[in-house]
Amino acid sequence: MIKKEVQFTVDVFKSIDDLMPADLSLLSAARETTQAAYAPYSNFLVGAVAQLSNGAIVKGTNQENASYPVGLCAERVLLSAISSQFPNMAIQTMAISYHHLKGKSDHPISPCGMCRQSLVEYEQRVKQSFRIILSGMTGEVYIIEKATDLLPFPFSSSDLASGR
Ligand code: THU
Repeated sequence: MIKKEVQFTVDVFKSIDDLMPADLSLLSAARETTQAAYAPYSNFLVGAVAQLSNGAIVKGTNQENASYPVGLCAERVLLSAISSQFPNMAIQTMAISYHHLKGKSDHPISPCGMCRQSLVEYEQRVKQSFRIILSGMTGEVYIIEKATDLLPFPFSSSDLASGR
């Protein structure tokens, strides 16, 4: 038996003011984009913005529904928009923020498990990882080097490959 250790590094910044200009601008856009969320049930507005390798900026927000499970997270709305408008285009950096209308928005949140699965598949599909910036409307900012860091041992297309 051997023990395998899985670890990853998070860069922690005190506030948005400590970021380099490109990251500051992307996180500002994510914070602003929370306003476009449709989240009347949770009051939890999430904004995700990506800078693609061709320089394009694409936005996504969470979109809820009276039939709760129909709702979509901002991250998967964003990936669907990217995939539809710029098929197979690599992402350089994605910034994710949120505005909790009935609570605090002062610390980073990280993508739910379902979104992590989608983020990882996007990296695998275009064969390029992307950085993820996480923060609320105020407070600390986390930067993660690649989506795969958030989901060790992912299920992926290679697991579906036929044995023949
Ligand atoms: N949500 C996201 O959009 N992204 C996340 O990473 C976590 C949760 C949304 C789903 C739902 O509309 C609301 O936030 C509360 O869970």
